[in-house]
Amino acid sequence: MSDWRSFWDNAHSIYVNARHKDVHYREIAEQIAGFVPHPGARVLDHGCGEAIHADKVAAVAGEVLLCDAAPSVRRAIAARFAANPRIRALAPEEVEALPPASLDLIVANSLAQYLTEAELDRLLAAWRRLLVPGGTLVVADVIPPDVGPVSDVIALLRYAAANGFLLAALVGLARTATSRYGRLRKTLGVTRYAESAFMAKLAAAGFSAERLPRNMEHNPARMTFRARPAD
Ligand SMILES: C[S@@+](CC[C@H](N)C(=O)[O-])C[C@H]1O[C@@H](n2cnc3c(N)ncnc32)[C@H](O)[C@@H]1O
Repeated sequence: MSDWRSFWDNAHSIYVNARHKDVHYREIAEQIAGFVPHPGARVLDHGCGEAIHADKVAAVAGEVLLCDAAPSVRRAIAARFAANPRIRALAPEEVEALPPASLDLIVANSLAQYLTEAELDRLLAAWRRLLVPGGTLVVADVIPPDVGPVSDVIALLRYAAANGFLLAALVGLARTATSRYGRLRKTLGVTRYAESAFMAKLAAAGFSAERLPRNMEHNPARMTFRARPAD
């Protein structure tokens, strides 16, 4: 999905304002921190985006690797966390070159929908190789086939109202509808999976998995899966 890739490498208005971005990344970092198994753990956030609160994860882990395909995003991360020796920005090919069984936790939030099935299969194989036995993979914000943009709009408005940026969200939604994001979502679409299909995909890649009761992000109609390398 090369057009999605170039979309993320350019300025976009997915976050309706600075507060939205701050609340979003803070919540994601807190949730990732909650999955960190021990203070020395090596953590990979794959498709991390700007990850502006990754220091919260680093505070409870040994090392946090932030991988994003967009060079501009990696540059911003490297600059933001230059003074934090526990945080490193990596390109996807650098992740592929990591030694086997070298990571304790891998999280990919809001990534699977922007990949083709073949791209996701390749990543699942890489993650399986990189996790230690007993390690954890969390794949979150997976979109089921019957969940469309209306569900996203309602979820965003609820989230915005609860976090004090409702007005900005209304303006932002109008902007998004006519933005490059809106056009790409209409033309390229996003990749969707039924729960059973995603569970089967994880099993085929060598994981034993469960769907968690709550999605990691604010849209409760989307799905989060936790998986471990199968014995
Ligand atoms: C919707 S954003 C999610 C960001 C972040 N995980 C979050 O929770 O907000 C998707 C991110 O995945 C990145 N991405 C897309 N394809 C990727 C790939 N194959 N490998 C690594 N990152 C990728 C994009 O550049 C973008 O920053």
